[in-house]
Amino acid sequence: MTEEASSEATLSNLLREERTFPPPAAFAEAANVPASAYEEARDDRIGFWENQARRLSWAEPWHTALEWTPPFAKWFVGGKLNVAYNCVDRHVEAGNGDRVAIHWEGEPGDTRTITYADLQKLVSQAANALHELGVRPGDRVMIYLPMIPEAAVAMLACARLGAAHSVVFGGFSADSLRNRIDDAQAKVVITADGGYRRGKPSALKPAADEAIAGTAVEKVLVVKRTNEDVPWTEGRDVWWHDVVDRQPTEHEYTTFDAENPLFILYTSGTTARPKGILHTSGGYLTQASWTHHAVFDLKPETDVYWCAADIGWVTGHSYIVYGPLSNGVTQVMYEGTPDTPHQGRFWEIIQKYGVTILYTAPTTIRTFMKWGADIPAKFDLSSLRLLGSVGEPINPEAWMWYRHHIGGDRCPIVDTWWQTETGAIMISPLPGVTATKPGSAQRALPGISVDVVDESGKPVPDGGGGYLVLTEPWPAMLRGIWGDDERYKDTYWSRYSEQGYYFAGDGAKKDDDGDLWLLGRVDDVMNVSGHRISTTEVESALVSHPSVAEAAVVGATDPTTGQGIVAFVILRGEATEGGDTATELRQHVAREIGPIAKPRQILVVPELPKTRSGKIMRRLLRDVAENRSMGDVTTLADPTVMNMISAGLAGNA
Ligand code: WTA
Repeated sequence: MTEEASSEATLSNLLREERTFPPPAAFAEAANVPASAYEEARDDRIGFWENQARRLSWAEPWHTALEWTPPFAKWFVGGKLNVAYNCVDRHVEAGNGDRVAIHWEGEPGDTRTITYADLQKLVSQAANALHELGVRPGDRVMIYLPMIPEAAVAMLACARLGAAHSVVFGGFSADSLRNRIDDAQAKVVITADGGYRRGKPSALKPAADEAIAGTAVEKVLVVKRTNEDVPWTEGRDVWWHDVVDRQPTEHEYTTFDAENPLFILYTSGTTARPKGILHTSGGYLTQASWTHHAVFDLKPETDVYWCAADIGWVTGHSYIVYGPLSNGVTQVMYEGTPDTPHQGRFWEIIQKYGVTILYTAPTTIRTFMKWGADIPAKFDLSSLRLLGSVGEPINPEAWMWYRHHIGGDRCPIVDTWWQTETGAIMISPLPGVTATKPGSAQRALPGISVDVVDESGKPVPDGGGGYLVLTEPWPAMLRGIWGDDERYKDTYWSRYSEQGYYFAGDGAKKDDDGDLWLLGRVDDVMNVSGHRISTTEVESALVSHPSVAEAAVVGATDPTTGQGIVAFVILRGEATEGGDTATELRQHVAREIGPIAKPRQILVVPELPKTRSGKIMRRLLRDVAENRSMGDVTTLADPTVMNMISAGLAGNA
């Protein structure tokens, strides 16, 4: 089957999906957000968002809700607030200081319980410490930590000081961290000796050291987590327990402009250089907070919420830190992997803490499916009342499995579409309103305007497919790419500049009811286990290896991870294809970018398929990687190349 034919087949399967699951009556009745929210927002979109902004505490009100100079937006202009105050102090002031904010579960089984009153003290101490280390409003602080409470505390401490944080996922390499430090011009790095992963301590400090050498970083604040020996640079490195623990537990905060930068988060684009996505304060927090309240139907007095993402991704920013904490919820935070020390660890955690809402990724759900339904069946999951999915399209089988084996056929599922750039959820069912369909994210949330358009920017009719666009500015939208306005305009706004639409980079279909089905990326970005990785970034990592002459990378469909990275490489003349070339190259990519970017497969080939203008035809390589018969080769400069590749691979096997 050709690529087009195979996605057509999946699509018609999807579009034949006729099962719908209306919310249980009791759920609908008690839901935070009723159907009328759609009308309210339709009648007055900006007024709707102003109402949601009023859920937060402002030191000064805004005078203009939206200033839109396409493609640059400012929300709640003139308003002042402190984001950390909104996430922590105000809950204590409201008398909820004793409520647990975080039930933290370390991978080895150690735990910490942190109330809102504790969190207020911890964040205040960390803010005092960062101030002592020289952090001032407008500075950038890099956070390179495992999933420990200090990660959330550090983010909030930056927010409290009006400094922007940039969290780098602990699985990224020293090189990746260094590029981000340089791009953000960070002054301070917060890291740890290491964290626990798969039952062992996994070091972070050595990579941090390698990354920091030669940068403008002045101070490194190090959390002790694993107790392993670490290299130490006197005068630059300080221990968290030495500097933070001795600080006063009170910190006088100031308030900042609604548009004060809150964080920069790097994400893969279609070129080798990651983009620093910039988010600011008032609009971001408004939408992160409201969507969390609306989509997860959060009842802070009774719910125990768990988002099983890493804080290093946007999901962790918006739905572990800012959304949940601004709503004063009790949540679970888990350090490790789902199979340590056994494959029932997630279910054990749900049973132990009485988790009511679980938010995870389709790749994780498919992994659980592979391990077998008998594993969750051994645990009491009856506390669950709502399930969420994020990061990639969820296939109907995984959706049904999640609903049945985890949700006991009673929990609504919210499939949430959004991006690092959108800052918060954009497309999702409302759990008390929407009759859900397995595999569809369904419709834009109240206050959000999306469409599916063709090449020319014309909306497709129901039943049609095309490109997903966002047609109106939204409060949590990125404010730009750090230091690169041109790239911002070019990446997101140039494709539909005439219409003024934001181009999301995702394909989508509207079904006959007008519900949306997201179909994955339409650019050179792969989605591996819900993580965005650029083909060009992996290619440039590969060609930086001395034995590689040329490389082309494609994302091939993978039953568990969504896509798997398959690399085609041409070796240099002098390099021979030894038994461990592939292993060496995979390691090399892990060193250059991080283990998440390790190709699933490396195929050594004599040539790469190119058009006459020299562009690599990835479509044909995907055919090979997915064991399909090849599509049209007539536009190749040398149509025999594909035969050479296939013959070579057959010979290898
Ligand atoms: C994909 C993660 C289908 C999509 C929050 C998007 C999804 C990219 C969904 C953003 C979903 C995310 N259904 N696809 N529910 N959620 N995606 O920036 O391709 O890491 O463009 O943000 O993930 O990935 P990012």
